[in-house]
Amino acid sequence: MVEAHDHICWGGGHRHDKAHCLELRGVCAGYGAGQDALADISFRAQCGQRVALIGPNGAGKSTLLNVLAGLLTPRSGQVLWNGRPLHDTPHEIAFMPQRSEVNWAFPITVRQLVEMGRYPALGNWKAMRQHDRDIVDKSLKTLNLMHLQHRQIGALSGGQQQMVSLARALLNINKVLLVDEPTKGLAPKIVQEVAEALAEAARTVPVLLVEQNLAVVRQLASSVTVLSGGRVALTGMEAGAFLDDTGLNHRLLGVHTGTPADGTESAQAAPRKGA
Ligand SMILES: Nc1ncnc2c1ncn2[C@@H]1O[C@H](COP(=O)(O)OP(=O)(O)O)[C@@H](O)[C@H]1O
Ligand SMILES: [Mg+2]
Repeated sequence: MVEAHDHICWGGGHRHDKAHCLELRGVCAGYGAGQDALADISFRAQCGQRVALIGPNGAGKSTLLNVLAGLLTPRSGQVLWNGRPLHDTPHEIAFMPQRSEVNWAFPITVRQLVEMGRYPALGNWKAMRQHDRDIVDKSLKTLNLMHLQHRQIGALSGGQQQMVSLARALLNINKVLLVDEPTKGLAPKIVQEVAEALAEAARTVPVLLVEQNLAVVRQLASSVTVLSGGRVALTGMEAGAFLDDTGLNHRLLGVHTGTPADGTESAQAAPRKGA
């Protein structure tokens, strides 16, 4: 059980007695007429927790984030925030998609991309007011992106693109932060910069982080949930204990999580047979 002093929610360090809770109950989801990509997913996360979602390629990690972000409607089951449907106010969910899901060739500036994260919270006319511009400024400043605000998004490095993506997501960080493979394909030094920015963002809300880099999982996550074949293979285990249990994570991920000579740990080092 998370103690009241273990978590601080959005809103100026406000402390409260009851932990905000994200819960999935028997969620099944899939694409078109295809079979379920997620089958009977149930787990809970509370503010103060940083959950790493890990598992082989095709396990359903991105699909689960799509369901939580409100981009994919579950076929059955419930997604609850403090016991009520999460998507009552979808614009309060911060989602940082996989870098490959964003069209970085689209001809807009950094500022315009970040502003788009504010659109769901605007009225029917989608007009940005000073208050909205202040929020965008705060997010750009927090991630040290002001000097890049007028640059085209296609002219950024991979690490800068991830920072911009995070800045856009942070505009909506009221309930939960969803992050899909934020460090994939980045150089080790940049991985560290993105991880530190995420660690800062993660202080205020529950975080669900899909991450193959187990060194980043070790740094950012408090607990681990493993998906395999669209099902929960393990949930709620303390992240450090999971990563240190080489037998367990070899069985679930098909990897040995010792730290190799290059200083990286990766859940993709030895893909699970048949995955
Ligand atoms: N847009 C899509 N249309 C159809 N099937 C999809 C789509 N996205 C993912 N899938 C399928 O859903 C399953 C889970 O995929 P995904 O959630 O992307 O896995 P992960 O993120 O764990 O690698 C896979 O079988 C994948 O082929
Ligand atoms: Mg994925």
